[in-house]
Amino acid sequence: MSEVPADKPELYRQLTQSLSGLLTGERDLIANAANTAALIYTSVPDLNWAGFYFLRDNRELVLGPFQGNPACTRIAAGRGVCGTAVSSKQTMRVADVHAFADHIACDTASRSELVVPLFSGGEIVGVLDLDSPSHARFDQDDQIGIETLARVFEKASDWQR
Ligand code: SME
Repeated sequence: MSEVPADKPELYRQLTQSLSGLLTGERDLIANAANTAALIYTSVPDLNWAGFYFLRDNRELVLGPFQGNPACTRIAAGRGVCGTAVSSKQTMRVADVHAFADHIACDTASRSELVVPLFSGGEIVGVLDLDSPSHARFDQDDQIGIETLARVFEKASDWQR
Protein backbone atom coordinates (compact mmCIF):
# COMPACT_ATOMS: atom_id res chain seq x y z
CA MET A 1 0.00 0.00 0.00
CA SER A 2 1.72 3.18 -1.14
CA GLU A 3 -0.32 5.83 0.69
CA VAL A 4 -2.10 5.66 4.02
CA PRO A 5 -5.74 6.71 3.51
CA ALA A 6 -6.72 9.68 5.68
CA ASP A 7 -9.87 7.84 6.66
CA LYS A 8 -9.25 4.98 9.13
CA PRO A 9 -12.26 2.86 8.16
CA GLU A 10 -11.07 3.13 4.55
CA LEU A 11 -7.55 2.01 5.57
CA TYR A 12 -9.03 -1.06 7.25
CA ARG A 13 -11.36 -1.78 4.31
CA GLN A 14 -8.30 -1.81 2.04
CA LEU A 15 -6.32 -3.91 4.51
CA THR A 16 -9.15 -6.44 4.84
CA GLN A 17 -9.16 -6.86 1.04
CA SER A 18 -5.36 -7.10 0.92
CA LEU A 19 -5.27 -9.70 3.70
CA SER A 20 -8.04 -11.80 2.13
CA GLY A 21 -6.05 -11.83 -1.12
CA LEU A 22 -2.76 -12.55 0.65
CA LEU A 23 -4.13 -15.57 2.52
CA THR A 24 -6.15 -17.04 -0.36
CA GLY A 25 -4.96 -20.54 -1.25
CA GLU A 26 -2.84 -20.96 1.89
CA ARG A 27 -4.06 -22.67 5.09
CA ASP A 28 -0.77 -22.96 6.99
CA LEU A 29 -1.13 -21.23 10.35
CA ILE A 30 2.48 -20.05 10.64
CA ALA A 31 2.71 -18.81 7.04
CA ASN A 32 -0.58 -16.93 7.37
CA ALA A 33 0.34 -15.48 10.77
CA ALA A 34 3.69 -14.29 9.40
CA ASN A 35 2.08 -12.54 6.43
CA THR A 36 -0.70 -11.05 8.57
CA ALA A 37 1.84 -9.59 11.02
CA ALA A 38 3.94 -8.20 8.15
CA LEU A 39 0.93 -6.63 6.40
CA ILE A 40 -0.27 -4.95 9.60
CA TYR A 41 3.18 -3.75 10.66
CA THR A 42 4.00 -2.24 7.28
CA SER A 43 0.53 -0.72 6.65
CA VAL A 44 -0.81 0.53 9.99
CA PRO A 45 1.02 3.71 11.04
CA ASP A 46 2.75 4.29 14.37
CA LEU A 47 3.36 0.72 15.57
CA ASN A 48 6.48 -0.69 17.22
CA TRP A 49 5.25 -4.30 17.40
CA ALA A 50 2.61 -6.45 15.69
CA GLY A 51 2.24 -10.18 16.01
CA PHE A 52 0.76 -13.33 17.46
CA TYR A 53 0.78 -15.41 20.61
CA PHE A 54 -0.76 -18.89 20.41
CA LEU A 55 -2.41 -20.59 23.40
CA ARG A 56 -0.81 -23.90 24.41
CA ASP A 57 -2.42 -26.45 26.77
CA ASN A 58 -5.16 -23.90 27.46
CA ARG A 59 -2.91 -22.11 29.99
CA GLU A 60 0.07 -20.41 28.34
CA LEU A 61 0.57 -18.07 25.41
CA VAL A 62 3.65 -18.83 23.31
CA LEU A 63 5.17 -16.29 20.92
CA GLY A 64 4.25 -16.70 17.25
CA PRO A 65 5.19 -14.79 14.09
CA PHE A 66 5.65 -11.05 14.62
CA GLN A 67 7.33 -7.87 13.41
CA GLY A 68 9.26 -5.61 15.77
CA ASN A 69 11.82 -6.17 18.51
CA PRO A 70 12.33 -9.62 20.03
CA ALA A 71 9.59 -10.24 22.62
CA CYS A 72 8.72 -12.32 25.70
CA THR A 73 8.22 -15.94 24.59
CA ARG A 74 5.71 -17.16 27.19
CA ILE A 75 2.83 -15.39 28.96
CA ALA A 76 0.51 -17.22 31.37
CA ALA A 77 -3.22 -16.92 30.69
CA GLY A 78 -4.52 -14.19 32.99
CA ARG A 79 -1.20 -12.30 33.08
CA GLY A 80 -0.37 -9.05 31.28
CA VAL A 81 -2.55 -7.42 28.67
CA CYS A 82 -2.34 -10.47 26.39
CA GLY A 83 -3.15 -13.00 29.12
CA THR A 84 -6.05 -10.83 30.29
CA ALA A 85 -7.47 -10.87 26.74
CA VAL A 86 -7.37 -14.68 26.99
CA SER A 87 -9.01 -14.95 30.43
CA SER A 88 -11.69 -12.35 29.61
CA LYS A 89 -12.10 -13.47 25.95
CA GLN A 90 -12.42 -9.73 25.19
CA THR A 91 -10.41 -7.29 23.11
CA MET A 92 -8.10 -5.24 25.36
CA ARG A 93 -7.53 -1.61 24.33
CA VAL A 94 -5.06 -0.02 26.74
CA ALA A 95 -4.40 3.72 26.29
CA ASP A 96 -1.43 3.78 28.67
CA VAL A 97 0.33 0.51 29.37
CA HIS A 98 2.20 2.09 32.30
CA ALA A 99 -1.16 2.54 34.03
CA PHE A 100 -2.10 -1.14 33.48
CA ALA A 101 -0.90 -2.78 36.69
CA ASP A 102 -0.05 -6.16 35.19
CA HIS A 103 1.42 -4.98 31.89
CA ILE A 104 4.38 -7.07 30.73
CA ALA A 105 6.99 -4.76 29.19
CA CYS A 106 8.63 -6.61 26.31
CA ASP A 107 9.62 -3.41 24.52
CA THR A 108 10.12 -0.31 26.67
CA ALA A 109 9.04 1.85 23.70
CA SER A 110 5.43 0.58 23.97
CA ARG A 111 2.94 3.12 25.38
CA SER A 112 -0.43 1.79 24.19
CA GLU A 113 -1.64 -1.65 23.19
CA LEU A 114 -4.47 -3.43 21.37
CA VAL A 115 -4.93 -7.17 21.92
CA VAL A 116 -7.60 -9.13 20.01
CA PRO A 117 -8.41 -12.71 21.10
CA LEU A 118 -8.51 -15.36 18.37
CA PHE A 119 -11.07 -18.16 18.23
CA SER A 120 -11.40 -21.47 16.40
CA GLY A 121 -14.53 -23.60 16.78
CA GLY A 122 -15.66 -21.34 19.61
CA GLU A 123 -12.45 -21.94 21.61
CA ILE A 124 -9.86 -19.28 22.31
CA VAL A 125 -6.63 -20.20 20.51
CA GLY A 126 -4.42 -17.12 20.78
CA VAL A 127 -4.18 -13.36 20.44
CA LEU A 128 -3.21 -10.77 17.86
CA ASP A 129 -1.21 -8.05 19.64
CA LEU A 130 -0.37 -4.52 18.42
CA ASP A 131 1.87 -2.11 20.33
CA SER A 132 2.41 1.60 19.68
CA PRO A 133 4.98 4.06 21.05
CA SER A 134 2.19 6.70 21.20
CA HIS A 135 -0.21 7.21 24.10
CA ALA A 136 -3.83 6.20 23.28
CA ARG A 137 -2.86 5.28 19.71
CA PHE A 138 -5.80 2.87 19.23
CA ASP A 139 -9.42 4.03 18.99
CA GLN A 140 -12.70 2.29 18.24
CA ASP A 141 -12.00 2.35 14.48
CA ASP A 142 -8.67 0.57 15.02
CA GLN A 143 -10.34 -1.99 17.28
CA ILE A 144 -13.07 -2.78 14.74
CA GLY A 145 -10.53 -2.82 11.89
CA ILE A 146 -8.06 -5.15 13.63
CA GLU A 147 -10.89 -7.42 14.88
CA THR A 148 -12.04 -7.72 11.25
CA LEU A 149 -8.51 -8.67 10.16
CA ALA A 150 -8.35 -11.22 12.99
CA ARG A 151 -11.58 -12.84 11.72
CA VAL A 152 -10.09 -13.09 8.18
CA PHE A 153 -6.92 -14.71 9.57
CA GLU A 154 -8.84 -17.16 11.80
CA LYS A 155 -11.02 -18.39 8.94
CA ALA A 156 -8.16 -18.63 6.42
CA SER A 157 -5.95 -20.75 8.66
CA ASP A 158 -5.84 -24.40 9.70
CA TRP A 159 -5.83 -24.63 13.52
CA GLN A 160 -5.46 -28.44 13.66
CA ARG A 161 -1.73 -28.84 14.24
N1 SME B 1 2.67 -6.15 26.65
C1 SME B 1 2.15 -7.48 26.52
C2 SME B 1 3.25 -8.47 26.28
C3 SME B 1 3.50 -8.76 24.85
S1 SME B 1 4.40 -7.57 24.08
O1 SME B 1 3.71 -6.28 24.10
C4 SME B 1 4.86 -7.99 22.56
C5 SME B 1 1.34 -7.87 27.74
O2 SME B 1 1.31 -7.14 28.74
O3 SME B 1 0.72 -8.92 27.71
